[in-house]
Amino acid sequence: MLIENIGLLVTHDAERPERSGAAIVIENGRVAWVGDWTGAPDADERIDAGGRCAIPGFVDSHSHLVFGGDRAAEFEARMAGRRYEAGGIRSTVEATRAASDAQLLAGARRLLSEMRAQGTTTVEIKSGYGLTVADECRILSLARTLTAETTYLGAHVVPADYSGRRDDYVALVEGEMLDACAPHSRWIDVFIDDGAFTVDEARSILTAGIARGLGARVHAGQLGVSGGVRLAVELGAASVDHCTYLADADVEALAGSAGAGAMSRDAGGSAGAGAVSRDAGGTGAAADAAGVGAVWAGTVATLLPGVEFSTRSPYPDARRLLDAGVRVALASDCNPGSSYTSSMPFCIALAVREMGMTAAEAVRAATLGGAQALRRTDIGHLRVGAAADIVLLDAPSYVHLAYRPGVPLVHRVIASSTE
Ligand code: NIG
Ligand code: FE
Repeated sequence: MLIENIGLLVTHDAERPERSGAAIVIENGRVAWVGDWTGAPDADERIDAGGRCAIPGFVDSHSHLVFGGDRAAEFEARMAGRRYEAGGIRSTVEATRAASDAQLLAGARRLLSEMRAQGTTTVEIKSGYGLTVADECRILSLARTLTAETTYLGAHVVPADYSGRRDDYVALVEGEMLDACAPHSRWIDVFIDDGAFTVDEARSILTAGIARGLGARVHAGQLGVSGGVRLAVELGAASVDHCTYLADADVEALAGSAGAGAMSRDAGGSAGAGAVSRDAGGTGAAADAAGVGAVWAGTVATLLPGVEFSTRSPYPDARRLLDAGVRVALASDCNPGSSYTSSMPFCIALAVREMGMTAAEAVRAATLGGAQALRRTDIGHLRVGAAADIVLLDAPSYVHLAYRPGVPLVHRVIASSTE
C-alpha cells in the first residue's frame, strides 16, 4: 500500500527526521519504503494523503484503564481548592472490586477506542485498583487481552484493609501477589510518594519483580521530591513517571542513566522476558544517535501533564530535562483520579504551552519517547522496517496539535502493529 501526497512526514530518521512532499509504502504491516512523493514506487492500493501531515502513531506508555466508577466529585472538590492526595485511589479500589469482569472490560475498551480515535496505536496498561491477589490478577488478565504492555502495580497504595499493617501488605505484593500477577505482566511498577510507598519498600518490591523477569518502572516525583527517581535509575528502570518535583541530583542521575554503551541490541535487556511475549525485534537497524533501531537501555523521564492539569499542580519542567540530555516521554496517565484524559494531542498541547517543549519535541516524546520508555524499537518511528502505525492529521503540520488545542485533528489512523 502506498500513502502518497503527504505534506509533511515525521519519521524520526536520524539524518532526516521529517520530510515534505513525501510518500510511504507499507508491506505486511511494516514500513517498506520512505521517500519523495514524486519518486514513489507503484502499489496495488493507494491512499492520497491530500497534503496532510503524517506522524507515527502515539505510544501512550502510562495508563490505568481497568477500573470501576469515576471520581468526578473529587475533581470538582479539587477545582474548588482541595488538594490531590494519593488516598483517593482507595475509592476507585472499592468500585473496581465491586465491578464484574464484563464491566471492567467494557470500560477499558471504551477508553481504548477513545485513544485510538485520537491517534494512539500502542498503550501500556497498569493494574493497581484491585490490591488483593485475586483482583490484581483479574485486572491484569483483562488488560492482557488489550495490550502486550501490561504492568503489575500492586504497590499503588496500601489498601484500607491493611491499614496499620503496611509491612504485611508489602510482603504480599512481593510474594503471593507477584507470583499470581507475573504471568500476566511484562512490567512491575511502584508508586513512590507521600501517602504511597517509601524508597526502601519500593526497592524491595521492584527487586523481587526484576528477579521474576519483569522490567521495572516507577511512579515518582508527583507530589514531592523523594529518592524515587534515583532508585529507578539505580535499578535500571525503563521509565520513571511524573517527574514533576526533581532535585538536581535526580536530573543528573537520569541524564547519566544511559551510561556508555547503554544502547543494546539485546531487546530483552533488563526489561526482561515477562510472560507476555511481544515483538521487540525492530528491524535490525544499527544503533544511531537518535536511538532508533536499538533498545534504549537508560531510564526515560515520562511526563504526564494531564495530571498537573487535573490536579492544579505546577507542570514539570521538560526544558530542564531536555537540556540536561534526559530522554523524555509524554503519556496520558489515563485514570479516574489524577488524569481522566485519553488524549495524547491534549498532552502535547499542554507540553508545548506549559512545559517548555517545542511541538517537534512534544511529538517526538509522545511517539519515540514512549517507545523508548517501553524499550521497544519497532514502534514510535517510521523508518524502513518500523511497524506501520501512522496517523494522518487534518493539518499541514504537527504544530497544529498544540496550536489548535481541543480540535479533533486526527483524520485517519493506520494501526498495523495491533491488527
Ligand atoms: O499515576 N500516582 C499514582 N497513581 C495515579 C493516580 C491514580 C488515582 O488517583 O486514582 C497516577 O497519577
Ligand atoms: Fe499513573
